[in-house]
Amino acid sequence: MSIIAFINQKGGTGKSTSSLHFAHWLATQQKRKVSVVDADPQRSLSRWFASMESHIPVTALTSADDLLEKIPVLAESVDFLVIDGGASLSEATRAILFRTDLAILPCQPSKLDLDACADTVRLVRQAQSVRKGAPKAAVFLSRAQKNTKLKTEAIAVLQKIPDVTALKTIVHQKQSVADSFGQAATVWDLSGSGAADAAAEFEQLFKEILRLVS
Ligand SMILES: Nc1ncnc2c1ncn2[C@@H]1O[C@H](COP(=O)(O)OP(=O)(O)O)[C@@H](O)[C@H]1O
Ligand SMILES: [Mg+2]
Repeated sequence: MSIIAFINQKGGTGKSTSSLHFAHWLATQQKRKVSVVDADPQRSLSRWFASMESHIPVTALTSADDLLEKIPVLAESVDFLVIDGGASLSEATRAILFRTDLAILPCQPSKLDLDACADTVRLVRQAQSVRKGAPKAAVFLSRAQKNTKLKTEAIAVLQKIPDVTALKTIVHQKQSVADSFGQAATVWDLSGSGAADAAAEFEQLFKEILRLVS
C-alpha cells in the first residue's frame, strides 16, 4: 500500500490533471486497486471522475482533521491511495504531508511558480524533520513549452533542491490535456498525435513515480 499526493500551494500547476491520469493509469493499465482523495474544496477531480463514470472511489476530504484521520483508513484497503491537494491550504497540505509516503510537486516554469514551489518545499521539509525523513518528495516540470529559455532555467532550479528528487520527465503544455476535462475523458481516450504524445509523457512520468515507492 502506497500513499502518493500531488501537492503545490499554487493553483493551475497540474495537480488535478496528474492525479486523475495517474489514478486512471494505475487502475486500468497496471490493474492496481486504487482509491482517490479529493482535498480541493473546488472538487474538480470529483467532478471529472463523475463525468467519466469511473469506478475509482473518490472521497472528498478538505479539513486537516479529516485528512489526518481518514487517509490511513482509506489507504488500508487499496494498493494505491492518490491524493489531489488543494491550492493555498497550508494546514490541509501539512496534514497530507504528515500522512503521505510520497509527495509529488508539479511546478510550472516561471519565476512566480518556482517561488510557490519553494514555499511548498518548505512544508515538505518541516514534515520530513518531524517524520525523520518521510515523506519522500519529487518535483517535475509541468505545462512546459518546448524550446524555451524559461524551461531550461526552471530545470536547473528544480535540480538544485536538496533532498527532493527532480523527475526526468517533463510534461509539456498540450491542447489535448487541456481538452480532456471538458471531454469527460483522459488523454488515452482522445484521438490524435497530441493526445498520444501527452499519454506517452504521462506514462513515463508515472513509471518514474512508481520507482520511487517500490
Ligand atoms: N500538460 C498540460 N497541457 C495543457 N493544459 C494543462 C496541462 N496540465 C494541466 N492543464 C490545464 O491547466 C489547468 C490547471 O490544471 P489543474 O490540473 O486543474 O491544476 P491544479 O489542480 O494544480 O490547480 C486546467 O485547465 C488543465 O486542463
Ligand atoms: Mg486542482
